[in-house]
Amino acid sequence: MALELKVDALSASYGAVRALEGVSISVREGEAVALLGTNGNGKSTLMKCLTGLVTPRAGSITLTIDGTAHNLIGKGPQEIVELGVAMVAEGRRLFPRLTVEENLFLGAYRPAARASLAKNLEFCYATFPVLKERRRQLAGSMSGGQQQMVAIARALMSAPRLLLVDEPSVGLSPLLVSQTIEKIGELNRKHGMTVLMAEQNFHQTVKIAHRGYVLVHGEIAFESRDVAELENNEVVKNLYLGAS
Ligand SMILES: Nc1ncnc2c1ncn2[C@@H]1O[C@H](COP(=O)(O)OP(=O)(O)O)[C@@H](O)[C@H]1O
Ligand SMILES: [Mg+2]
Repeated sequence: MALELKVDALSASYGAVRALEGVSISVREGEAVALLGTNGNGKSTLMKCLTGLVTPRAGSITLTIDGTAHNLIGKGPQEIVELGVAMVAEGRRLFPRLTVEENLFLGAYRPAARASLAKNLEFCYATFPVLKERRRQLAGSMSGGQQQMVAIARALMSAPRLLLVDEPSVGLSPLLVSQTIEKIGELNRKHGMTVLMAEQNFHQTVKIAHRGYVLVHGEIAFESRDVAELENNEVVKNLYLGAS
């Protein structure tokens, strides 16, 4: 297997606040895996542990690439990007006063991606044609949906092996939520991109995910082998389906 992410018994805290407790998940090459959970249950904390922005208190994170195991704990964000892990952060985190294209170039600092910058840019524009039309527009002047496209495209500019997407639906209208999540699904299906996506939006997420985990109060409350298991699970029904 060329790529596998394995998180084992991971715990993380912010001072006295325990955000993650004994979390174990895995993502294998070619999969689209969902990390489901409502607000404040630890999704972003897990994403930040994976990208070196939060240092866990206990547990392990191993990224195995072509048979070589890399321990991600203790590595900085830059080193983790260089291994081929890119994150689309919650809230997009664009540079609003730079143009679309300048934002995209900032995603290409990974040395391995610099050589193929033109090719990666072409790929981003083919994936999101509107960004090519608007490449000279200031990112901050675009609509929320377009800004999310820029954020995803910027991550793609590092030619990642593993794409982490943290709540792409935040702040978007229902139509844009479904379009954005569908685009992420298309990257997985058509281009073989390995994806771990954190989301609250259960119905849109199960359209693109192969399987998933449900985080409740920082613990994995349920792990599914496929989407049907997710849809039929009691924890999920209570959280997402029962009340509505
Ligand atoms: N920087 C921080 N300092 C203190 N507590 C935090 C911080 N970030 C998140 N938390 C807390 O950690 C828990 C998990 O938050 P988070 O990982 O952001 O959840 P989610 O992404 O699922 O909404 C929450 O209780 C939240 O209040
Ligand atoms: Mg979050």
